Amino acid sequence: MQKNGTVIVLLGPPGAGKGTQADRLSSALGIPTISTGEMLRQECRSGSPLGAQVEKLLNSGQLVKDELIQEVVAQRLAQPDCSEGCILDGFPRTAVQARFLDQLLNSLNFDGPAVIDLTIAPEELIARLSSRRQCPVCSRTFHCVEGMSTFCPHDGSDLIIRADDQPATIRRRLQIYSENTSEIVRFYQHRRYHRVNATHSVEDITQKVLRVLGTNLDRTKDSKPPVPASQRLWAQIS
Ligand code: AP5
Repeated sequence: MQKNGTVIVLLGPPGAGKGTQADRLSSALGIPTISTGEMLRQECRSGSPLGAQVEKLLNSGQLVKDELIQEVVAQRLAQPDCSEGCILDGFPRTAVQARFLDQLLNSLNFDGPAVIDLTIAPEELIARLSSRRQCPVCSRTFHCVEGMSTFCPHDGSDLIIRADDQPATIRRRLQIYSENTSEIVRFYQHRRYHRVNATHSVEDITQKVLRVLGTNLDRTKDSKPPVPASQRLWAQIS
């Protein structure tokens, strides 16, 4: 039986540019992004009891439980707009999640994922995250330097600093990332696994990723708008 489209996993530490590249790849390839961090932040903003619990974990830099995030990803991946594939930004983050993803993709008639591991030095990450601002309405992120407007150019909202972009929380997130990453890399490294240097310009990195994925670059010329991310699936699982 013919397989469904390709699922792309973006790995990389906090601030490597997973979200930035996920949006660009979504536009270039016409497939949706599933950003687990963004879905969790949406739940926090909803003010639900589950959101309140999740918010404490996010603000302290901890991961949420595997079972919870796996359930969310399983429901989202089963939606019709993912049938041509999707980009997973922030999932899997543990070896347990990686094994779960393999089983899930198999059950949904996908091949194993194409994995892009964005690599970058920790000093650069801290600089990037300290300068990041996010629009609370459209969730777009911006790299802010002195003198730059603090309003979202798309909807005029006041840009905010993400609660987990405080220096102590950044350090905690980097530590958790390094504790989990070697096992995930071991899990994927003999499969469709590609390391991409994430210190280049945003555009260069996108082009490099599309090249290693073997995608015809001409598709980017007729790039489509990003496929809107979901998605409140929480009500169904909480
Ligand atoms: P999540 O939102 O996924 O956070 P993260 O992995 O820590 O990654 P970030 O969003 O901080 O960075 P990014 O790599 O997307 O970089 P970005 O493109 O923004 O998760 C948040 C939390 O949710 C987790 O800590 C955890 O608690 C929970 N969670 C999520 N998934 C989970 C899971 N599967 N299991 C359990 N818990 C989970 O770029 C960063 C900045 O750099 C931006 O300002 C950007 O403009 C700039 N930038 C990007 N690329 C470049 C470039 N090439 N050059 C210069 N600047 C650049």
